[in-house]
Amino acid sequence: VDEQMGLTYHVDGALVPAEEASVDVRDRGFMYGDAGFETLRVYGGTVFAWAAHVDRLERTLSTLGFAEAMPPCDDLRDRVRATVDANAFDDCWAKLSISRGVQPGKLTPGPRVDPTIVVTVGELPRGGVAGEAVWDDPATVRIATTRKPDPAAFPPAAKTHNYLNGILARRELRDTDADEAVLLDADGYVTEGATSNLFFVADGRLKTPASGRPLLPGVTRSVVLDLAREEDVPVETGSYRPNDLLRADEVFLTNTSWEVRPVTRVDGTAFEVGPLTRLLGRLFDERVEAEYDA
Ligand SMILES: Cc1ncc(COP(=O)(O)O)c(C=O)c1O
Repeated sequence: VDEQMGLTYHVDGALVPAEEASVDVRDRGFMYGDAGFETLRVYGGTVFAWAAHVDRLERTLSTLGFAEAMPPCDDLRDRVRATVDANAFDDCWAKLSISRGVQPGKLTPGPRVDPTIVVTVGELPRGGVAGEAVWDDPATVRIATTRKPDPAAFPPAAKTHNYLNGILARRELRDTDADEAVLLDADGYVTEGATSNLFFVADGRLKTPASGRPLLPGVTRSVVLDLAREEDVPVETGSYRPNDLLRADEVFLTNTSWEVRPVTRVDGTAFEVGPLTRLLGRLFDERVEAEYDA
């Protein structure tokens, strides 16, 4: 079944049926992963944490060197809103991509950028305080042998179309029951999941790898850190070894789609869904309910 059937996407300023939405085969996003993107969550027709997502997209395009081709924030928001409205969604995910577009020449980027700007969407009911989370079950995690690249080789804070590192880590999950791969950096410290940030609870503290380690500074990660601080939960960011994780009392993952997702297994070690994970999941839901119409 084609999950795009009947949906409407937004390509370079025009709403188009999803089945017909396409970009040029010479587009550098397709050829080289030369593009930035954000996965957004829409609750009650409004994008969650829009400013944080736009900031990160801007930083991604700065890293790639074509931030000046990024349209103003309001223009981008209009494109997302038009796409959400065209599909008559209240609660959904949306993905906003900006590539360096088509350029003459080969690998070296040229100075003239005509970006390709795409918005895709898909329905995603909110779990919320009363409903069910989008994930079916808590996550099962494996620590991958695929490592995070050196930050000097590949900037980890840029959310580009190049997800090969995460794809290779996820491929290691074949023939296992795990649904997320956690990657270590070159020094053997824990960083993040293939598409998620990692938290654990130990010594009565909420801990997550510091942004100085190679990881994507997740929007959900930062909301969860804020929620914890507002509750006076001791928070620590640092450099952690796999053993710190395996000895933890609770483990959970965060991203825009999963929000707060408990982890019940890391490699051979089982975890309960613990009280702090539940608390932060509930506080996250309450924030959404308070700020975004149901
Ligand atoms: C590598 C990586 N880390 C972390 C995250 C979580 O980021 P956010 O909470 O902004 O969705 C993602 C999201 O897809 C990701 O791809």
